[in-house]
Amino acid sequence: MLVTCALPYSNGPIHIGHMLEHIQADIWVRYKRMLGHEVWFICADDTHGTAIMMKSKEYNISSEDYIAKVFENHKLDFKNFNISYNNYYYTHSKENLYFVRKIYYKLKLKNLISIKNVQQLYDVKENMFLPDRFVQGMCPICYAKNQYGDTCEICGSCYKSIELINPISNISYTKPIVKSSTHIFLNLSILQGYLYNWICSGVLSDKILNKVKEWFTKDLKSWNISRDLPYFGFLIPDMLDKCFYVWLDAPIAYISVFKNLCNKNLLLNFGDFWKYNSDTELYHFIGKDIIYFHSLFWPVLLYGINFRKPNKIFVHGHVTVNGKKLSKSKSNFITASKWMKFFDSDSLRYFYASKLSSSIEDIEMNIQEFICKINSDIVNKVVNLASRSASFLQKYFNNVLSAKLEDVKLYNFFVTYSKKISNLFEMGDFKLVIVDIIKLSDIANQYINDKKPWGFIIKKKNIKLQEICSMGINLFRIIMVFLKPIVPDLAKRSEIFLIDKLQWNSISIPLLNHRINCFKPLYNRINNNVLNNYFK
Ligand code: MSP
Ligand code: ZN
Repeated sequence: MLVTCALPYSNGPIHIGHMLEHIQADIWVRYKRMLGHEVWFICADDTHGTAIMMKSKEYNISSEDYIAKVFENHKLDFKNFNISYNNYYYTHSKENLYFVRKIYYKLKLKNLISIKNVQQLYDVKENMFLPDRFVQGMCPICYAKNQYGDTCEICGSCYKSIELINPISNISYTKPIVKSSTHIFLNLSILQGYLYNWICSGVLSDKILNKVKEWFTKDLKSWNISRDLPYFGFLIPDMLDKCFYVWLDAPIAYISVFKNLCNKNLLLNFGDFWKYNSDTELYHFIGKDIIYFHSLFWPVLLYGINFRKPNKIFVHGHVTVNGKKLSKSKSNFITASKWMKFFDSDSLRYFYASKLSSSIEDIEMNIQEFICKINSDIVNKVVNLASRSASFLQKYFNNVLSAKLEDVKLYNFFVTYSKKISNLFEMGDFKLVIVDIIKLSDIANQYINDKKPWGFIIKKKNIKLQEICSMGINLFRIIMVFLKPIVPDLAKRSEIFLIDKLQWNSISIPLLNHRINCFKPLYNRINNNVLNNYFK
């Protein structure tokens, strides 16, 4: 299977809001790989558009140099969070240019493209047409001030930027004029029936499907896929004063990034994954703000080139801090690299997993709640189970586990959970995975409490004591198998401690007569003092 995340824009650093999506997809991918599936996991920087062009101007470097720098930072952030990409690339590539052109020609051949004149706001001082987000003015519906050229944040209305009252360019702060320009449109309404059938084919969850269906109550609007120069993007072959709109070439990079991977890995066959009747599977992970692009535009592009369509689109809500979506202009902007200065990646992965389900509700990042959860779940419950069992094994049994299980029934009870937890992983209900794991940890710790290994009068080789502690270690091992996709670093340290590879299909066989390593702390409690420094 081929799995993708949405491509983060190159116009700024990766923040913990972006990271939600990459963590969600990575947990799913790691789970699938653990079951033995062949999974190719790819993503890229989305490097085109006006915002990126303006950013590079601000730094006084070329757009190419600017995106190259951002690319290195993004790649490092994903590496630090253990996002297991097989390929992380960018949209400004020769492979992408190739597929963009090819798809454009095919769409033309299928008569899905038309040309129209469009009236747009033009910044005379900067000599450029203004994209919706680069102009502000009064909402034509409710008269709220300082609204962007596409929607009003106050009354929620959508309008054209030329309808704004008293518009001002956000680039030169001058009053723009209205100027006309020809543009290329993709006629979605021709494919309305085809699209409707596809969105109903099981690719979307029911809730999202209902939302998408609302768009079908009217004729779908044709989609402007061109932008006037100056613009950082791919030039349109037969219209040299224009570029393709960034949202045209971005999804096409799902194809071209994979092509680039095939170029590097000669055992991979491109057609196996993209040809029309492919029997491989394709999954996308996206945020709720970009459903329109993925459920309507993207399948039309695939229709154009006659490629296969996705099996499922997983949609998540937004991360909020203090109730608001992360934003550079607000104090709630936490970058991935800032996070790593104070915490580790497993902790964010665990926290997000404990909040993620198949719904698209927003996820509030409350640092106090976060610290509590990590300390009480990972440190006090999961890791504690290993440490309290290991101490006796080390002291009296040379780190060797018993020859038989002390409580076979209890062990098998844990094993039977693997089916249920497996289903929950499958559906993306990681929140419920964590609920079960914590329930199992409580049961295992209660077992140790009841058996009171510390109350044993130590004679040489007290087999019962060895068996009880070995039960603790074996239950810890099962729990860590379930947790492995979520907290890969902790899983790695646990594997070293257990001298055993944590594998899904090996949990039914306990570790017996098996030597483990001396216990070293597997996870450090997060100190509340961190907070004082964190908010400095
Ligand atoms: N470049 C486009 C995607 C193109 S896909 C062919 C884009 N980029 S983005 O950087 O704005 O967002 C990338 C992904 O991060 C999107 O899925 C978006 O929903 C997600 N998130 C951005 N901010 C987020 C939060 N605060 N919380 C959760 N996800 C967020 O859109
Ligand atoms: Zn309004």
